[in-house]
Amino acid sequence: MVRGYGPGVSTDPVSRRRFLALSGGGVAGLVIAACSPETVPIDSIATTLPAGSTIPVTGGPVDVEIAMRAISDTVEIKPGVQTDVWRLVAEVTRGDAGVVEPIPGSYLGPTLRLRQGQRVRIVFDNEIPQETIVHWHGLDVPEDMDGHPRFAVPEGGRYEYEFTVVNRAGTYWYHPHPHGLTGPQVYAGMAGLLLVGDDEEDAASLPGDEFELPMVLQDRTFDGDRLVYLPNGMMDQMMGFLGDEILVNGSPDAVFPVAARSYRLRILNGSNARIYKLGWDDGTPLVVVATDGGLLEAPVTRPYVTLGPAERVDLWVDFEPDAIGATRKLVSLPFESGQTMGGMMDSNALIPNGSAFDLASFDVDQAASSTDPLPERLSDLGLSSLDDAVNPTAPRTIVLSFARGTWMLNGRTFQMTEVSPEETVQFGSTEVWEFFNAGGMGGGRMGGVSEGLAHPMHMHGQQFQVLDRTIDDAGRAAWESLREGYVDEGWKDTVLVMPGERVRILRRFTGFPGLFLYHCHILEHEDMGMMRNFLISTT
Ligand code: C2O
Ligand code: CU
Ligand code: CU
Repeated sequence: MVRGYGPGVSTDPVSRRRFLALSGGGVAGLVIAACSPETVPIDSIATTLPAGSTIPVTGGPVDVEIAMRAISDTVEIKPGVQTDVWRLVAEVTRGDAGVVEPIPGSYLGPTLRLRQGQRVRIVFDNEIPQETIVHWHGLDVPEDMDGHPRFAVPEGGRYEYEFTVVNRAGTYWYHPHPHGLTGPQVYAGMAGLLLVGDDEEDAASLPGDEFELPMVLQDRTFDGDRLVYLPNGMMDQMMGFLGDEILVNGSPDAVFPVAARSYRLRILNGSNARIYKLGWDDGTPLVVVATDGGLLEAPVTRPYVTLGPAERVDLWVDFEPDAIGATRKLVSLPFESGQTMGGMMDSNALIPNGSAFDLASFDVDQAASSTDPLPERLSDLGLSSLDDAVNPTAPRTIVLSFARGTWMLNGRTFQMTEVSPEETVQFGSTEVWEFFNAGGMGGGRMGGVSEGLAHPMHMHGQQFQVLDRTIDDAGRAAWESLREGYVDEGWKDTVLVMPGERVRILRRFTGFPGLFLYHCHILEHEDMGMMRNFLISTT
């Protein structure tokens, strides 16, 4: 079966069903009925912070106001071809105009540059012919500001966000989150970077201004002036969609002219399903200064860096030893993806997960008058200790499996407002969670054969820390080909879990109470329902 895809064309029956279910549901005073015996009803959106919240600022005057729109547009991605896209555009309507920084010629949304402590108001207008809602990935915001699919607005609809930036400095991002439609909408172009700054980051004296290069890695398949999504239908959904070409910041064949000095690369894997094994083509090790939730305590060096969908990493790179005229390439190195699905692996991807390819060239074209040396110390992480956890030796386990034709979390798929007791945590607590990737078909890992896919697991709300990883024998070979590239030292909101792997994380639930999401960030899996609510309960 071949299915075309183009912005403006919705073939997804899920969206229509959901739209009907949602119409008439207002935001304030939302009342959600129980929909299964194990469902906990949510009476209303919490509007005040309970005692014990670690959120320092909760209100006050708005510092920045942004008007954001989702629009249908065309962009010249390939020379001479106007490609149909959907994109998020924005302008500052109050405050510093530098907060919104468009990427010229790209379908990507503008880079938003915010500061910790800022009060931000974003008025979002949906002008695409499909429901949508925007999520601020990695930011810790109240539940009704988080872009949960229950707040999706139809074409012509508006959603008003207002929140304080409580996160530390870091490379965050924003993208749509309507249920069943996140994959196609992000793919059509709706995503952008959200960079938060703070005093601690300023003090670290990392390369800034033109020596800081944001890089969004994505893959796309083109057919003339159209982007092609899910050409292999169900198989692409099960495996996760992999495009035929690699784009950086929305352009193929990315080249960055650089001076012979140090740079900070702020890299987001904005792909629907692709894993990157980042490396320099000349074998130089990678120097990592930050991950999802901002700066590490100190730089770490890796032979390569493993970056699953939605993960971010900031690299410090020095082009000073390179001769003027030299070119260095950032590449994705080959690895064993561990991807098998009952023998149907790799769908028809032109560039399967695990193949080698170039990402971007850095042409050293001029001498530099100054440079920024690599700082020895970067930040205070303020990590929790296992002693803080209410369940240090009994993790809350989430089993990732494939059954009954779909991807599941503890045998369940997403229901708009459903949350089970196993997904309900006490406000104010710190907990150990464990993601266990049990493998593929039927959840089985039979006969020593590794079956399954790697799943990048993401939690909304506060960032977590990765405690440890263990792998079973069946999954070991694939795991070994990526594990030296994990950077688990800092704060994370997304963690790659390989087939057969158990990843234990430690997380506080001390910010905003309410109903939030956790899910696989392979967007096709998320859309299929590999997503669940969790409830931070104050009662
Ligand atoms: Cu990047 Cu629930 O999202
Ligand atoms: Cu998120
Ligand atoms: Cu997945």
